[in-house]
Amino acid sequence: MLPTTFVIFTAVAAVLGAPTSFSWHQSRVAPTTLTTLTTADLDALDSFTQFARAAYCPADKLMAWDCGEACDANPDFQATLAGGMGNAVQFFFVGYYPKSNSVIVSHQGTDPLALLSVLTDLNVLKGPLNSTLFSNMPDGSEVHTGFRDEHAITAQEIQNEVKRLIAPPKSRPLGGALAELEALPAEVGVNAVTYGNPRVGNADFVSFFDSQVTDFKRVNNRDDLVPIVPPRFLGFVHPKGEIHIVDDDSNELVACPGSYPLRLFSCNDDATDDKCQIKTVPTILSGNILNHLGPYNGIHIGSIFCT
Ligand SMILES: *[C@@H]1O[C@H](CO)[C@@H](O)[C@H](O)[C@H]1NC(C)=O
Repeated sequence: MLPTTFVIFTAVAAVLGAPTSFSWHQSRVAPTTLTTLTTADLDALDSFTQFARAAYCPADKLMAWDCGEACDANPDFQATLAGGMGNAVQFFFVGYYPKSNSVIVSHQGTDPLALLSVLTDLNVLKGPLNSTLFSNMPDGSEVHTGFRDEHAITAQEIQNEVKRLIAPPKSRPLGGALAELEALPAEVGVNAVTYGNPRVGNADFVSFFDSQVTDFKRVNNRDDLVPIVPPRFLGFVHPKGEIHIVDDDSNELVACPGSYPLRLFSCNDDATDDKCQIKTVPTILSGNILNHLGPYNGIHIGSIFCT
């Protein structure tokens, strides 16, 4: 699987690098019951959150890594590619972060109100992924065609940059063997964090995603309703890895185990624990779209503070 798979989520900071660089004590094996996390667990996500937030800034500020608080929070980051226009093509950036010896890919999220109108459309279409961009995707994998087409605009450019950055120095053997991520040496890991992402694809897509991206967290904030659309009855499911911020004042947060094996209507959406997203927000009428923007441990994503 290629790293830009993550791009189809709404607000993403993906890291390629040593898997130990971002530790998370209970993530190696999916928890079988609800787990209460600590403030330290939330703190550990801050650098991802700030990278996700920085992706709302224009390319010139990102290339100079001079975008105000979000850039200052992860000093020493070296942006090597940035683009987008903030509307038709969302901002994104790629670069190297020496502190964790990681390559970072981050994408601006969709304006939540525009997103909601798209995602609550019951005529929403699923379709197969482009086999050039996703060479290993199993037959039957389908994703929301709107996300797919948005992703495809910048996918090749980002893939090329990530490959360039993770390629071993020419002096080392194996150079050039890294055509695709699954061929990478074991010491290169992938982790990804999303904030308030909607359901993206069907069960075949999600099963494959879960098998490939073993360190994935999708952080949901309080009553955000974006994570409950498009609806499950249309065949959309989530990957595993739900973290739900139950209360941002007390920083109460839980890891939700979901329901494995994948089943229609229950796939990874924890429908039995009251503190998980779909029990908290059973219908879009009971949600609050403002919670989509944060705060995530005090950090608001999607409010523009780029200077
Ligand atoms: C698939 O992606 C490749 C690489 O970006 C592109 O050249 C090709 O036109 C795409 N195919 C379709 C059917 O969109």
